[in-house]
Amino acid sequence: MSKVTAIINIGRLLQVEQQPVKGKMMQNVPSIENAWLEIKDGLIYNFGKMPYEKGASTITDQVDAAGRYVLPCWCDSHSHIVYAGSREGEFGDRLRGMTYEEIAKRGGGILNSASLLRETGEQQLFDNALARLNEVMKQGTGALEIKSGYGLNTESELKMLRVIRRLKSESPVIIKSTFLGAHAVPPEYKNDKKKYIELVVNEMLPRVADEKLADYCDVFCEDGYFTKDETIYILESALKYGIKPKVHANQLNRSGGIQAGVDVKAVSVDHLEYTGEEEIDALKSSATIATILPGAQFFLQLPFPPVRKMIDAGLKVAVASDYNPGSSPTGNMHLMMSMACILYKMTPEEALNAVTINGAAAMEADEITGSISIGKRANIIITKPVPSLAYLPYAFGSNMAEQVMINGEFI
Ligand code: NIG
Ligand code: FE
Repeated sequence: MSKVTAIINIGRLLQVEQQPVKGKMMQNVPSIENAWLEIKDGLIYNFGKMPYEKGASTITDQVDAAGRYVLPCWCDSHSHIVYAGSREGEFGDRLRGMTYEEIAKRGGGILNSASLLRETGEQQLFDNALARLNEVMKQGTGALEIKSGYGLNTESELKMLRVIRRLKSESPVIIKSTFLGAHAVPPEYKNDKKKYIELVVNEMLPRVADEKLADYCDVFCEDGYFTKDETIYILESALKYGIKPKVHANQLNRSGGIQAGVDVKAVSVDHLEYTGEEEIDALKSSATIATILPGAQFFLQLPFPPVRKMIDAGLKVAVASDYNPGSSPTGNMHLMMSMACILYKMTPEEALNAVTINGAAAMEADEITGSISIGKRANIIITKPVPSLAYLPYAFGSNMAEQVMINGEFI
């Protein structure tokens, strides 16, 4: 028998049949005041304005939202939640004045996480990642992209990607996986980056493709990591296997990463602190999504990405958490929404689009999630009592999700 849940007396139902939005359209949040929502067998079945008249034949559960807001779950399109250990020691070093780059140069940073990960077994990595995933799911994340990139050798990169594959099959959250073998050059190739790139392209990528372990390939395109040309070479190699590109771009300098992403038609370019007119122009003529990661920008105290300029230029902007041990040790998407408003002056409407439908689009999951649309997964948040949409980013640091439903089940 079908399971049907009806949620009635919704103060405002947000993102109704919303599509990915860019530029001025990011201001638009289609909503229904005083609404009901019907969920059947894990999918959104119907919605409308109160009073509620039973649509589906038998209602299994009826939930009275008593004026609370209902919105689609957060869609977090950039994370590194498979990792070992933690890096609060480096955090302390940064508080005492060292920079992220200086820490990386002495063998810390990504390489620190890589040496910890190589020593950690698959089960342990899985358990730790699942705990992180469950934590963000309770906060309202219903879709998450997860990257490899702390293995930096074939065995450990595959180990990470297999952990992600297991998360995909054991968690109800929608998960996309990204191969990030080119996250840093490991110490054993310190003097021969070219050779490491060949390992990524000729050994890792074929294995990743063969085992169908990745939806995307990503490269950390920054000074001291991978150049624009190296990035294009790696991403074009992945494309030959049908693995689409993403880029870590312009976080630490004007690396050419944004242009590289545009060149290879990347699904998204992410970070973008060092973005000028040239980069915005390049993005304007592309379908590549500009993904902003406020957690990393804040935690590393980097310059602000010019988000207002990007939206005013008509770009499609998403916001994600970058949840990772080095530059953003949180996956709290409600907090990311607040930071998008407070730091970059996004409006609450723009920020909501950035953390829902545009985030879904940045991992090509917008056909199944990111809005309240008939036939999409019933991944929804029922908020605490709130007087308006703006209250969500305004109440920064609080958890505004009172109940979270994933695939039609309250968790
Ligand atoms: O997205 N910058 C590259 N990757 C991560 C940081 C990884 C780390 O420091 O462990 C990021 O910020
Ligand atoms: Fe990242």
